[in-house]
Amino acid sequence: MGYKILVLNGPNLNFLGIREPQIYGHETYDDLLLMIKKHAAECNVEVSFFQSNHEGALIDAIQKAYFDKIDGIVFNPGAYTHTSIALADAVKSVSIPTVEVHISDVSTRESFRQVSYIREHTVSQVVGEGLKGYNTAIDRLIEYLGKNR
Ligand code: DQA
Repeated sequence: MGYKILVLNGPNLNFLGIREPQIYGHETYDDLLLMIKKHAAECNVEVSFFQSNHEGALIDAIQKAYFDKIDGIVFNPGAYTHTSIALADAVKSVSIPTVEVHISDVSTRESFRQVSYIREHTVSQVVGEGLKGYNTAIDRLIEYLGKNR
């Protein structure tokens, strides 16, 4: 197995398929995990998952990734993207290459979604590709790690 990648999802992403399907689609969180597992296997990366609706639990997961020697993080912080300096600090503090993902195209939505506190601490952002964006994020991490490790 190659790189160890953590796929981290923030608040309300466990509600995929239920919440605003016109924006986030009809596929569920479990469908998302299945899709990513398949892609990770094809790419020969070891993938693990964590989702929480709680800011502190997400920070704990980022700190745990440091001790678990995770090579890269795919992170959809949900609404915490736009509010959380604590999560941005956590991403910065572990120095693990991180790709920010948003299922929707946040750049064309409400003005409060234009702000991302974590963006400057990430190696890349994927927006508006739907669930497939998580696979794109894995590809970008593999490419980044190949060049920088
Ligand atoms: C989101 C976009 C955020 O603005 C929103 O709060 C979410 C999901 C996305 O994946 O498009 O919860 O991160």
